[in-house]
This record gives sequence, structure tokens and C-alpha cells, in this order.
Amino acid sequence: MKAIYPGSFDPITLGHLDIIERGCRLFEQVIVAVLKNPHKTPLFSVQERLEQIRQSTQHLPNVEVDSFEGLTVNYAQMIQAQVLLRGLRALSDFEVELQMAHTNNTLSREIETVFLATSNEYSFLSSSQVKEIARFGGCVDHLVPQHVAIELYRCHAKNHLE
Ligand code: PNS
Repeated sequence: MKAIYPGSFDPITLGHLDIIERGCRLFEQVIVAVLKNPHKTPLFSVQERLEQIRQSTQHLPNVEVDSFEGLTVNYAQMIQAQVLLRGLRALSDFEVELQMAHTNNTLSREIETVFLATSNEYSFLSSSQVKEIARFGGCVDHLVPQHVAIELYRCHAKNHLE
């Protein structure tokens, strides 16, 4: 079975990576799909995010990284994925994720959403938090892959100089 793991990944965190690694043990192939969202102003471009995810998943032979526009279920159908993988952190995720799963189910009955409970240590971790910590000069080494942490520090050092 092929699973798609869609998201913004701005940037990828260790929580995302945990879901990808565990998804890889369950599915033959996991496609990490970055949404090109015209309504959001990301910190990292789609190209940068694709590269960050590729570097972070080098050790996983059954992972592919791609970007897409429009509806997730349409993209999933196009690449013939049967499963839409999402991570569930705290209870607050549940309502939003359940709504999304139901909505996606009305759009395509062929795609099943599968939730994985995020591992304990990452249950309160989000990309937004990571960006905020980095913006205020905090340490994010324990929250994102090393090369992403370096990019975050570089990005904010540059903003300080401007
Ligand atoms: O990492 P995120 O921001 O929580 O990911 C959300 C994402 C990209 C999975 C979701 O917003 C999405 O699927 N967007 C594409 C548009 C779509 O398919 N909408 C219908 C589902 S409600």
C-alpha cells in the first residue's frame, strides 16, 4: 500500500519525522507531500522544504518527497495512493483532523485516512512553535533535524542584520 503524508512542513520537525519513520514500517511507500499553499507566507520556500525533507529522510528507502497544489485527495488519486497519513498530537488536533478526514471522505471514498499517535516526546511540538523559538534566539536542536536547525539559525541571523 502507498501512503501520502501531506502537510506544510514549514519546517519539518522531529515529530513529522517520527510519523514518517513509523509510516514506513506500515506501508510499502510513503510519499511526503508539501502543499503549495498560496494563502500562507511560509518561512521556507517549497523548494527549500523539499530539500530539508529529502535530507531528513535519506535513511528511509521507501520515502519519496514531492509537492502538490489543490486538493490532497486529488493528488493522492493521481499518484495512486490509498492512504492519507496524519499524525495526532494532543486532543486539540483531534477535532480539526476528524473534520478534515470526514471532508476528504466525502470527496473520495477510495482514500482512507490513517492516524498515528505522535510519540510522547513530540506530542506538543509544532512547526509554528519551532519558528517562534528560533525567532527569539532560542535553541531548537532537540526539535528539528540538525541541518534544519542550522538553516533556522541562519535565517534569523540574517533577519537581525537587515
Ligand atoms: O501541516 P498542515 O498545515 O497541518 O497540513 C494541512 C494539509 C496540507 C494536510 C491540509 O490543509 C490539506 O490537505 N490542504 C489541501 C486542500 C484540501 O485538500 N482541503 C480539503 C481538506 S479539508
